[in-house]
Amino acid sequence: MIKIVTIVGARPQFIKAATLSREIGKSAHMKEVMIHTGQHYDDTMSSIFFESMDIKQPDYNLSISDNRHGKATGIMIEQIEAVLLNESPDFVILFGDTNSTLAGVIAASKLNIQVAHIEAGLRSYNMKMPEEINRILTDRISKILFCPTAKAVENLKKEGFENFDCKIIQSGDIMYDGALYYRQFSSKPNHNIKEEFILCTLHRAENTNNLNKLQEIVESLNELSKKIQVVFPIHPRTKKAIETNGLELDFTPVEPQGYFETLWLLENCQKVLTDSGGLQKEAYFFKKPCLVLREETEWEELVENGYAIICGSKKEKILNAFYSFRFATDSVSGLYGDGNASKIIVEELLR
Ligand code: UD1
Repeated sequence: MIKIVTIVGARPQFIKAATLSREIGKSAHMKEVMIHTGQHYDDTMSSIFFESMDIKQPDYNLSISDNRHGKATGIMIEQIEAVLLNESPDFVILFGDTNSTLAGVIAASKLNIQVAHIEAGLRSYNMKMPEEINRILTDRISKILFCPTAKAVENLKKEGFENFDCKIIQSGDIMYDGALYYRQFSSKPNHNIKEEFILCTLHRAENTNNLNKLQEIVESLNELSKKIQVVFPIHPRTKKAIETNGLELDFTPVEPQGYFETLWLLENCQKVLTDSGGLQKEAYFFKKPCLVLREETEWEELVENGYAIICGSKKEKILNAFYSFRFATDSVSGLYGDGNASKIIVEELLR
């Protein structure tokens, strides 16, 4: 029997863990123990996912939600270490690029527990992003690196990872598995949503902590809302930043949505505007043009193939792209694998 500890803390990790747990549950040779660090704690950011997606309840809920990076990560390391000493797993599984991911890899690797990193090899090459720091550090000390794309494998090779004591596997993207499976449950949000609308999300520190950028994005959304309904499920951090800076939206945002409601919004919207990593890909899965509200993306294949466009935070660029950018008609298949990433991951761990 192989015992694994999965560590989650932020919204996208719950969605990825749901998909992986379903696959793990099919094996009689694996036992999963789950830790929730508590990084995301509002009901709309956390428990709604566990309930609607039928994710196993975390075995340990650490309730660590301090918003200072060093302090929160430090407390997480300390408490994850205690759980790992108690559980002695064969593997720790980590997802993505959050502070919970970084805390997990430090705690596990110092105890000589092997770490499998899902979503390895992604790079934005912007060292000001906390996520970029988390990714690089996590990749470097993980044992098995499951890469979602060919580009991610290439990034690791460029950094010399072939010379390190780790295994690199192009598994495909676990979020693609999830979108294929869960789209059958997509559900219209309980709001007055018109036939034509655009979907927007915003939460990156580079936008919410920079008043100029935040102001331009808010102005762009206000401008667009005169033409079309803007459905804006607002992240708590963004809500706080808009309020404390005295900015105003000319329309009412909605609360953060569950995954099934988000899938419905993706299926039915005209365009997606976002600074989220996950949503950029999901826009592609649902063939929706995506305006990326950042200066770069770790999902470069979307931009290279004409499915997404980098807009940054400049109003003129955002509005121009809104009117002129179309989803590429040439389709490139297999950018994110074939929907079997979770199967490939579980088979590798069993091996
Ligand atoms: C985190 C991840 C990011 C991921 C995103 C998905 C890091 C550094 N960033 O950013 O990679 O794409 O999650 O959403 O780990 N807050 C609430 N209620 C909540 C959760 C958070 O009010 O339920 C507030 C916190 O008090 C804090 C901020 O929002 O002020 C959260 O900041 P952070 O932990 O960095 O999370 P995200 O911005 O979501």
